[in-house]
Amino acid sequence: MEPVDILACMSIPAWPISGPRERELLEEVLGSANWGGYHPMVARFEKEFAAFQHCTYGLSAMNGTVTLEMALEALGIGPGDEVIVPAISFISTATCVSRVGATPVFVDIEEHTFNIDPKCIREAIGPKTRAIIPVHFGGPMADMDAIMQIATEHGIPIVEDAAHAHGSEWNGKRAGSFGVFGSFSFQNGKVMTAGEGGILLSNDEALIDRAREILDIGRRKGEGWFFHYTLGSNYRITALQCAVLIAQLERLPEQNCTRMRNVNFIREELADVNGLHFQQVPAAARVHTNYLLLGWVDGDRSSFHRNLTAAGYPCTPFYPHTLYNNRLYSERHNCRVMPCPNAEERITDAFWIPHRALLGDELETQQLASAIRTAADL
Ligand SMILES: Cc1ncc(COP(=O)(O)O)c(C=O)c1O
Repeated sequence: MEPVDILACMSIPAWPISGPRERELLEEVLGSANWGGYHPMVARFEKEFAAFQHCTYGLSAMNGTVTLEMALEALGIGPGDEVIVPAISFISTATCVSRVGATPVFVDIEEHTFNIDPKCIREAIGPKTRAIIPVHFGGPMADMDAIMQIATEHGIPIVEDAAHAHGSEWNGKRAGSFGVFGSFSFQNGKVMTAGEGGILLSNDEALIDRAREILDIGRRKGEGWFFHYTLGSNYRITALQCAVLIAQLERLPEQNCTRMRNVNFIREELADVNGLHFQQVPAAARVHTNYLLLGWVDGDRSSFHRNLTAAGYPCTPFYPHTLYNNRLYSERHNCRVMPCPNAEERITDAFWIPHRALLGDELETQQLASAIRTAADL
């Protein structure tokens, strides 16, 4: 029997979205003699996306997991070093640390923003701390004023995991432009996608060049094809992906505005529902992707989830565990874990609705809001 795509049966906009612009740019690459990472379409996308995020340099790659690994490697982080990460994120935020041989230190999130708590970062810093990786979880940016203050005081580099934050801002300055590196994902479910893909941004030319050497099998800018200077690998993106991503970037600002408008409506519409809470967004982070509509319920999360799904809306009952309780880290011999009561609580009561459900028209958005109301009213 053919597997059933449950999301395709639901009453929400399709994702990913493509149109004539993707096809036009793809044709340009297909008509050339080079579909790989050295086609000018790749450099063009890197320049456009970096500028969009208020950064100088971009280095696109196979995905948003290797971009994180390259960032740490380019910073020279390895065995004996520690890197502070939030207890709530996708696993790549932690595995990048382990993959370079360093130790992830898991710290708590803020109770209502879902983002890493700067106070907990301070408590976790020790003599071995070599980097901090804040994640802009679900779209709203982490408290970059407090985090950059810590970075400056302690001389610790920040690597922003901005996999959810294409166009997100903190007081008007975009994600990825605060840290020494910003890492983005273009995996199929992200707000811009080429099926797979990622990019590393930086304002530091020497750092991005070091990352480029790692990505391009140890080659150096301007040197020959068979000259390799560092132990790198091949993490290059293809020109076909960059063609699609240029078109996706052109569409993103309008989609971000649509999601913002719809989420504002949903939040206002449901403000009176007892026991239903949405992610708190600080004023400085007001402009963001709405990659996830995140919230938590006081009552029975499983019936909330069941009712919303039965009404035709995708809803995920959050991660099944904190990052450190994943099998990979649960024995604690390869990580350090700080107390994380907020993360532990959100595991039990949070949910998310993906961004595609937030791209509907007025009527579809009203229907989504009333389905959430009904699901929460138990
Ligand atoms: C916070 C975060 N970081 C990193 C990644 C990894 O990105 P990719 O799937 O492109 O490897 C993801 C992917 O979901 C993510 O959500």
